[in-house]
Order: sequence, then structure tokens, then C-alpha cells
Amino acid sequence: MTAGVTRITVGGNPDGSTYDVVVGADLMGELPGLLGPGVLRVAVVHPASMRRLATAIAARLDTAGCRSVLAEVPDGEAAKAASVAAGLWSLLGRSGFTRSDAVVAVGGGATTDLAGFVAATWLRGVRVVHVPTTVLAMVDAAVGGKTGIDTAEGKNLVGAFHPPAGVLCDLTLLDTLPPGEYASGLAEVVKAGFIADPAVLDLLEGGLETAAAHIGELVVRAVRVKADVVSGDLRESGRREILNYGHTLGHAIERAEAYRWRHGDAISVGMVYAAELAQLAGRLDAAVVERHRSILSGLGLPTAYRGDRWDTLLSAMKVDKKSRGDVLRFVVLDGVGKPGLFEGPDAALLADAYRKVST
Ligand SMILES: NC(=O)c1ccc[n+]([C@@H]2O[C@H](COP(=O)([O-])OP(=O)(O)OC[C@H]3O[C@@H](n4cnc5c(N)ncnc54)[C@H](O)[C@@H]3O)[C@@H](O)[C@H]2O)c1
Ligand SMILES: [Zn+2]
Repeated sequence: MTAGVTRITVGGNPDGSTYDVVVGADLMGELPGLLGPGVLRVAVVHPASMRRLATAIAARLDTAGCRSVLAEVPDGEAAKAASVAAGLWSLLGRSGFTRSDAVVAVGGGATTDLAGFVAATWLRGVRVVHVPTTVLAMVDAAVGGKTGIDTAEGKNLVGAFHPPAGVLCDLTLLDTLPPGEYASGLAEVVKAGFIADPAVLDLLEGGLETAAAHIGELVVRAVRVKADVVSGDLRESGRREILNYGHTLGHAIERAEAYRWRHGDAISVGMVYAAELAQLAGRLDAAVVERHRSILSGLGLPTAYRGDRWDTLLSAMKVDKKSRGDVLRFVVLDGVGKPGLFEGPDAALLADAYRKVST
């Protein structure tokens, strides 16, 4: 046990097993324990920006009796490609990886998605431990078991459910994260606050500096929200849908911007939109809508988008995999911590709500 460490147990695995998300500072000593017994070879998958950390992790694993290989992959979303996965399969093959060997992912959500997918598919599944290095990856991408890569036709179209053996959220790794990435990741923390944990909102009200000062508690609380949801239901149905708060319009904005916007920035606008929609439908107080705006803008996140893009966004929402047929579904709030579904809002209401988030 390391001092000042929080362990969150996540369930929802099809076989009934669980894994721990460990949150704290200077946690690398925890890694061999999370990998579990019997692991000989470990592939440490990382982008160039994480080379130093990955090298230190590999050295530590070797000291613990493993034989590690470093696997450098492209930075960011470029890692989530079939050609990159094929390169890793080839490396695992050449290095003689067996069922009892493992993968460690060191990086943001793009790296954990790719490495998780390779671990899911190598010999139909080997262990993976995630060492997320962005806020977004700590509170979202590394937890829950979704892995995947992109194709030319779209994001996350190829993937597998493959829960990790453990997740190591070492908060000291966030020190080098650029402020824009930091804030964007916090958008998912804001989401956790609105759908399930009002205490998170209190900690975020003071803006980016206060958030950074409380990042440990924020990560723990946001991971707990995601863990509670996925422990009940690993696959995309039922309660898991509440994690899509802000994502219906958010995904449409990402698509309209050809993925040049950060995910968190897009869902920031999406959450304000969902709040406006709920208010127009008589489900949510104006004060809660305003609280969305003040918290998100206080973190430097956008709360409005181009007024001339409604038609584009509406068509994008209709083809999003989260909507069923032509009927749009939104996660909305009936109050803080009270998520619900809004199916098939009429066109005038959708457009009215958009006017309220239009620049
Ligand atoms: N599997 C899931 O459930 C799930 C959930 C949410 C998001 N995702 C995926 O996560 C990805 C986005 O994750 P992300 O926002 O972490 O992006 P990312 O992995 O692209 O990282 C963002 C950038 O930050 C850099 N970086 C990472 N850690 C750093 C650090 N500590 N210091 C300095 N720079 C650092 C990276 O090199 C990269 O350039 C998307 O591909 C998305 O689809 C998956
Ligand atoms: Zn998201």
C-alpha cells in the first residue's frame, strides 16, 4: 500500500471479475501488483512524448522480474489506426508473447484505446494495465473496458470490450499536460458532476486553478461515477447511456469541425445545449442551466457554437450511432444528479435550444 492512495473497484466484467483504479501520486511501484502474477513479457506502448516515462516503467518492470519491450506509437489519434495495431501484433509475435504476457499503455486516451484493442485481440485477449497521462484518459478512456481504433470511415468503428487488469492514475503525470488538454479533460469531470455528483461541481466553481488544486479528489469522484455506471452495465445500453450527457450535440460538433476541436470542448457546448433543451421542455431550472455556463466558461471551455451550423449539426446527430433511426435521443437532466432521457424532441424545440447556444 502507498500512502495517500485511493482504490476504486470497478465491476461489470462479463466474467464477474473486477479491477482497481488506483489514484494518487508517485504510484509506479504499484504497477507489478496491478499486472498480477505470472506475467513474463510486457509491451509498454507509448507515444514519443512519453518515452522517458515508458523507459522508466520498463526498467521497473524488469527489476520486478519481467522482460519488457518498448513500443513507440504515433502521437494522439494517429495511433488509433489498423496499421499501427498491425505493427504491435507483429512486435508481440516477434517477441514471443503468450496468453500470460501483458500490455501496459502509457499515454492519453488514444494510446489506451489502441493498446487496449491490441491486448483484446492478441491471442483473443491478454492482460492490459493502463497508465493514463491525461485527465480525460484517467476519468474516462482508461475506465470501463471500451477499446478501439478508427477507420477512414469514422472514429471508433472497430473495437472490443476488454476491461483492463488495472488502471494507475498517477496525478504527478498531469503536471506537463498543456492547459487546453487539461481543461478539455475536465469537461468529462463536469459531466460526472451534473449527472451524478454535485460535490464535483462545488470543487469546479473556482475555475482552472482551484480545479488543479483539487485534482486528486476530482479524478477520484469522476472515476467513481463512471465505475458505478459501468459496474452495473458494461455494454452500451441502459444506464451507461447517461455517460453520453452532452455527447449528442458534442459528437456532431466534432464531426462538423473534422475533429480539430478537442472532445471536451465539443461536449462542453453539448452539455449547455442539453441543459437548454431540458429547460425549454420544462424539466430543468434556469439556474442549473446558468450553472453549466458559469462552471464551463470558468474552466475556459466553450459554451456556444456557430449559429449558421444548425442544419449540419442536425444531420450529423441523425447519423450518430447513438440515435436510433431518425429519432434523436438526448440525455437531459431533471435536476443536478438526476439524468433522464428525452426521446424525439420536436424540431422547433431542438432549434430553439440551439439558438441559445449560438454565437
Ligand atoms: N475507451 C473509452 O471509453 C473512451 C472514452 C473517452 C475517450 N476515448 C478516446 O480517448 C481519445 C482522447 O484521449 P485524450 O484526450 O487523452 O487524447 P490523446 O491521447 O490524443 O492525448 C492528447 C495529447 O496530449 C499529449 N499528452 C498526453 N499526456 C500528456 C502529458 N502528461 N503531458 C504532456 N502531453 C501529454 C498526447 O501526446 C497528445 O498529443 C480519443 O481517441 C477518444 O476516442 C475513449
Ligand atoms: Zn466523452
